[in-house]
Amino acid sequence: MRLANKHLIITGAARGIGFAIASKCVREGATVGICDLSPEAVDRACAQLEAAGGRAIPLPADVTDDVAVRQMVHVAHERFGRIDGLVNNAGITKDAQLRNMSDEQWRQVIDVNLTGVFQCTRAVADMLCAQGSGAIVSISSVVGLYGNFGQTNYAAAKAGVIGMTMTWAKELGRKNVRANAVCPGFINTSILGTIPEQVLARLRAMVPMNRLGEPEEVANAVAFLLSDEASFINGVALEVSGGIAI
Ligand SMILES: NC(=O)c1ccc[n+]([C@@H]2O[C@H](COP(=O)([O-])OP(=O)(O)OC[C@H]3O[C@@H](n4cnc5c(N)ncnc54)[C@H](O)[C@@H]3O)[C@@H](O)[C@H]2O)c1
Repeated sequence: MRLANKHLIITGAARGIGFAIASKCVREGATVGICDLSPEAVDRACAQLEAAGGRAIPLPADVTDDVAVRQMVHVAHERFGRIDGLVNNAGITKDAQLRNMSDEQWRQVIDVNLTGVFQCTRAVADMLCAQGSGAIVSISSVVGLYGNFGQTNYAAAKAGVIGMTMTWAKELGRKNVRANAVCPGFINTSILGTIPEQVLARLRAMVPMNRLGEPEEVANAVAFLLSDEASFINGVALEVSGGIAI
């Protein structure tokens, strides 16, 4: 098992890609802390993982709340004894074209998708550096690489995640702490719920493989980057998109 004895925190893990990452990681032998907004949803996710034979602890927290984030990391450290990895996965969309985008839409997406990632990583960085090992994987998006119609806020945040990842790869790499990003294409989860079927059909047609991705396909890449098999991979932004941009 490629993540045996690893203790991980995964944000936004109650459903979607985050839950798929948590499921994959426990199957690979990790113990996972499930961080998400709703305590009930977090408990349900933990119960599901435990029913499947995994080890999971609830870490309900809002990644935009720095006090809650520090407390969440403290609880994980107390329960686990150490933290080996962080997956920054929590994210939202609030789409509008530039000319109609409100300050509120801009701020909400930047708060969760950019500031949340910054705060969670800052909260674990000292611990990982002190122990001289660790892996951070942040979920960006192909939108952070290529932009997307109606997603100025999301594109800015996801491009920012790639910039922060490269910076952390330089700053923390010296302490044997690796930082990488994964850039999914369009993946079959509820976040796509607001996209009309016509648009989804167009998105599918842009992919040489002519389909959306599945959360498990993103989870496989994340588990690899967290594992020691990726021990010299640092500062990459790995596309998991079926080749959407070629
Ligand atoms: N689905 C896609 O097509 C796609 C593509 C590229 C990138 N992504 C990214 O992957 C990640 C997961 O997306 P998903 O499709 O699974 O979405 P999702 O909406 O199914 O899941 C996101 C999870 O994040 C949680 N969350 C939201 N705000 C939070 C906060 N402030 N604090 C803690 N948790 C919070 C939600 O409660 C939810 O459980 C996001 O970062 C998203 O931007 C998704």
